Amino acid sequence: MTKIFQIETFSTFQVYNNENVCEKGDFNMQQNNYGRPAGRSGRKRRVKKRRRTIRPRAIVLGVVILIIIAVAIGWKSMSRSDTEEEKQSSVQSELPGSSVDGEVQQSASSTDESVPQSEPSADGNAQPSETAVDGAASDSEPDIEVVDGLTYVNGILIANKSYSLPADYNPGVLPEAQSAFDEMAEGAAKDGIKLYIASGFRSYDYQAGLYQRYVERDGAEMADTYSARPGHSEHQTGLAFDLNEISDAFAGTPEAEWLAEHAHEYGFIIRYPADKEDITGYSYEPWHVRYLGKETAEKVYESGLCLEEYLGIDSVYAD
Ligand code: DAL
Ligand code: ZN
Repeated sequence: MTKIFQIETFSTFQVYNNENVCEKGDFNMQQNNYGRPAGRSGRKRRVKKRRRTIRPRAIVLGVVILIIIAVAIGWKSMSRSDTEEEKQSSVQSELPGSSVDGEVQQSASSTDESVPQSEPSADGNAQPSETAVDGAASDSEPDIEVVDGLTYVNGILIANKSYSLPADYNPGVLPEAQSAFDEMAEGAAKDGIKLYIASGFRSYDYQAGLYQRYVERDGAEMADTYSARPGHSEHQTGLAFDLNEISDAFAGTPEAEWLAEHAHEYGFIIRYPADKEDITGYSYEPWHVRYLGKETAEKVYESGLCLEEYLGIDSVYAD
């Protein structure tokens, strides 16, 4: 291939020089025509020279067209691979490492779920090695990867009834989730809505105590509909928050409506939507948001699916 190109280049160069010579000859002939009538041999010579000129020109033209096509094809394929690299890196930059979530109180009154934000930070937070996916469920099986005891489904860290977190996983509120919340609170304030974090990161032990209190109060079956067992709470991921009021009274408030409408613009989803209890495993929590990054949150929101549906996974306790 390389060799052919070199030969073509070389012959182009030669033809080009020939062509210049011919044109110069034609110019001289014309000058002669002005000086005296061209004789027969002069006409023959002109015809020959024209033939000699036309053939090289056709070759030159052909070669030039071939070069242009080759360059165009090469440029097109280069720009396509650039675009794909950009797309992949933007997807990767959207992948959260972990998140914090809040606790649900259905009829509860006095449980203190405020977040102990002084938990150890998320150094060494395990990341999925490679999952260039926006998380969308497709016809294929979800890509489930376990790294240091953390389960990533299509690159998204999952904590639900099916997938738990190690008891010693204590990332605290992840900085990306915190800054996304700050940005969201600022956006909400511009619309006259005040948002604040009622519960953020919760350690395994903290969740154990919380869940135990609910079990004592309402029984395990009821508690399981609104509170995660230790190791199964999204609050332990550092990527989820309970905002404002953790009670059914929050539903329908201007704050809840603003959240439902705008949370995805800041990278959050309402993690436990209404009418999805059978799939998420938890009753409606309009106050519980999960950080996914803007791109993924937007996609989940637009899909109208809860996260389990979107990823194609279950949320069911093994026992
Ligand atoms: N309220 C949610 C389900 C939790 O306990 O994490
Ligand atoms: Zn919550």
